[in-house]
Amino acid sequence: MDNLFMRHSVRRFKNTEVEPEKIEKLVKAGMAAPTAGNQQESRFIVVTDRDLLEKLSKCSPYAGCAAKAPLAIVPVADLNGAKFPEFWQQDLAAAMENILVEAVSLDLGGVWLGAAPLEERTDYLTEMFGLPENIKPFAIAVIGYPEKPPIADGRIYDMGRIFYNGYGDPA
Ligand SMILES: Cc1cc2nc3c(=O)[nH]c(=O)nc-3n(C[C@H](O)[C@H](O)[C@H](O)COP(=O)(O)O)c2cc1C
Repeated sequence: MDNLFMRHSVRRFKNTEVEPEKIEKLVKAGMAAPTAGNQQESRFIVVTDRDLLEKLSKCSPYAGCAAKAPLAIVPVADLNGAKFPEFWQQDLAAAMENILVEAVSLDLGGVWLGAAPLEERTDYLTEMFGLPENIKPFAIAVIGYPEKPPIADGRIYDMGRIFYNGYGDPA
C-alpha cells in the first residue's frame, strides 16, 4: 500500500527509456482493474514514438509534459460487444489508477492527462490514432523515470471528508 501513498503526479522525466518488461507490467496492471460485468473492454495504446508523444502533448493546454516523456499509455475502450457500455469511463479510470500506482512500484512516475468526456480532446485522440467509431479514447498516462525522486507531500487523512451512515455531520 505504500506505493499508493507515494503516488504523485510526475511531469518531468529523465531522458531514459522505459524497459519493455516494465511497459508490459504497466499494461498488465491496467488489465487487472475491475470492469463492469467483467466486460474487459479496455485496450491500451502504448506510445514510445517521439513524434507521437509530441502530438499527444498538443491534446490539451495541460498535456505539454508528454512532449519530453519517454512513454505514454492511452487507454481506450472497445465498445463492440460491451455488455455495459455506459460504464466504460469508470472502467478505464480504474485502469488508469492501476497503471499510475504500478508505475511507482517500478521506480517510475507518471501523470494522468484527462481527455474524456471533453469532446475536443477525445476527437483529437480519435483523429490522431485514426480510431474507428467503436473505440473510445479515455485519457493519457504519461510515464517515465522521475527527474527528481518522489517525496511524500504530507497530504493528510481528513476526517472531515468522512460521513458514517449518511451525509450529515462529519464523523
Ligand atoms: C481526471 C483527471 C484529469 C487530469 N488532467 C490533467 C491534465 O490534463 N494535466 C496535468 O498536468 N495533470 C492532470 N491531472 C493530474 C492532477 O492535476 C493531479 O492528480 C492533482 O493535481 C493531484 O496531484 P497528485 O496526482 O500529485 O496527487 C489529472 C488528474 C485527473 C484525475
